[in-house]
Amino acid sequence: MDQLWAVVLAAGEGKRMHSRLPKVLHQICGRPMLQYILESTMAVTEQIIVVVGHGAGSVRQELGSGWRYVFQEQQLGTGHAVACALPLMPDRGKLLVLCGDTPLLETRHLEQLLEEHSDNAVTLMTALLNEPTGYGRIIRDQNGHVERIVEEIDASPLEKKVPEINTGTYCFNLGPLKRFLPQLSADNAQGEYYLTDIIALLKEKGHKVGAYRVEDNRICLGINDRGQLAEAAALMRQRINHGLMQRGVTLIDPATTYIDYDVQIGSDTVIWPQTVIEGATKIGCACQIGPAVQLRASCLDDRVTLRQSVVEESIVETGAVIGPFAYIRPDCRIGQRVKIGDFVEVKNSNIGEGTKIPHLSYIGDADIQGGANLGAGVIIVNYDGRRKYRATIGTGAFVGCNSNLISPVEVGDGAYIAAGSTVTENVPPGALALARARQENKPGVAHRFLKKNDPVQEKGEKNEKA
Ligand code: UD1
Ligand code: MG
Repeated sequence: MDQLWAVVLAAGEGKRMHSRLPKVLHQICGRPMLQYILESTMAVTEQIIVVVGHGAGSVRQELGSGWRYVFQEQQLGTGHAVACALPLMPDRGKLLVLCGDTPLLETRHLEQLLEEHSDNAVTLMTALLNEPTGYGRIIRDQNGHVERIVEEIDASPLEKKVPEINTGTYCFNLGPLKRFLPQLSADNAQGEYYLTDIIALLKEKGHKVGAYRVEDNRICLGINDRGQLAEAAALMRQRINHGLMQRGVTLIDPATTYIDYDVQIGSDTVIWPQTVIEGATKIGCACQIGPAVQLRASCLDDRVTLRQSVVEESIVETGAVIGPFAYIRPDCRIGQRVKIGDFVEVKNSNIGEGTKIPHLSYIGDADIQGGANLGAGVIIVNYDGRRKYRATIGTGAFVGCNSNLISPVEVGDGAYIAAGSTVTENVPPGALALARARQENKPGVAHRFLKKNDPVQEKGEKNEKA
C-alpha cells in the first residue's frame, strides 16, 4: 500500500488577527488551535510535517518536540509552504495537506476524504456556505466537475456568488504534486504562490480532480480573525459540553458553561451556570460545581461541593465543601470533608481531613492537621516583608476568632488559642495560649464616652437645629 503523509501549514503570520502571537497559537478551549488538527491527523498517519515560519520558535516550544518541523523562511503562500516540505517526502504515496487554522476538522472527516480520493490525483474537501465571503470558491464546469479554485480577492462578482468553498484540506498523489508544484506562479492579487492554483494545473494536464463535500459545514471554519476565533471556540465548547453530557455529567446551562478540551469530569457531577473549568482539571463523580466557579488545573475527588469560588492548581479531596466566595490559590491540598467558607483565601497549604475554616481568613504557607477549627478572621502571618515562613497547626487544635499566627510558628495537637491572640511563640500540644492585653473594666465611666452625654456634641446639635 502507498504510504500516507501529512503536511500541516502553520507558518503564516495571521495578519487579520492583529496579534503578536502567531495565529496558530491562539487558544481554543485551553489549547493552541494548531494542536487540534495535529491530533486529528495523528489518527490517520504518524508521518506528519508541520511547516512553521512566523513565530517558529514559539510554535515549536508550545507544540513540543513530538512533531517534525520544516522552516518556511518567507511566507510566500500556501503553495510555497507545501513546496518547503516536499523534499522530505517520497515520490510516491499520498499526502494530506491541512491548514493549521481549521481546528474543527475531525479524524472522521479526513478518513472520508481519503476514501473519496481513490484514483484521483487530488481530492479537495469542500463545503457549501450561506456566507462564503473570505474563502476560496470552487468553480465547476457544466458537468459539475471541479475546474479550479479562485480566491476571494481574485474572484469576479459572479464567482463571489458561488457558495461552495475550499476548506483548505486536500489529499494529493505525491507524484503529480511534486511534478507540477514548481510550476505555480505568484501572478495574483496577493503576489503569493497559492496552493489552490495546482487544481487547474493538474486538471489541464489531464489528471483526475475529485471533491468531497462535507455535510456539516461548521467543521471547515478557517480562523483568520478574532470573530472566527470566537465562533470556533463556541462550536468547540458545544462539542465538549455535548460529550460530557453524553457521559453522564449534568450541565444546568451549557450555554454559560465554559469547559476546556482537556478537562475530565465524572458522572453525576452537576455543573451550575457561569462556571469556567480550565486546563487539565480533573473532577470526580457526584460533585456540585458552581454557580460562578472558576477552576483551573486542579484535581477534585468525588462529592466535592464548590460554589462561587476560584480554585487554581490545587487538590481537593472527597467530600470537601468550598465557598461561597473562597479563593484557593496554587499548591493547596484541601483534605477530605474540609470546610472552607466565605472570604477565605488559602495558598500553598495543606488542610487536613475534616478541618473547618468557615469565615474571613488568610491561610498562607501552612500545614494544618485534621479536625482543627479556625474561627472567623484567623490570619496566618506568613510574610515579614522580606521572607515567607510556614506555620503548622496540630490535630484538633482550636484557633479562636481574629487570631494572628506569626510564622514560623507551631501550634501543637489539641492546643487552644484564645480569640484575638497574636501568637508569636510555639504553643505546646494541649496548651491554652492567651496572647492579648488583659481587659480592664472601669465601673460607671461609660457615660463619658456616649454621645448623648457629650456636652460639646449636644451644643453642636442645638446650634444645627437653630
Ligand atoms: C486558504 C485558501 C482558501 C481556503 C481557506 C480555507 C489558499 C491560497 N487559500 O485561504 O482557498 O478557502 O484557506 O480556510 O491556499 N500558511 C503558511 N505559509 C504561507 C501562507 C500560509 O504556512 O506562506 C499557512 C497559514 O499559517 C494557515 C494556512 O497556511 O494555517 C492557510 O493560510 P491562510 O492565510 O489562513 O489562508 P486563507 O486566506 O484562509
Ligand atoms: Mg485561513
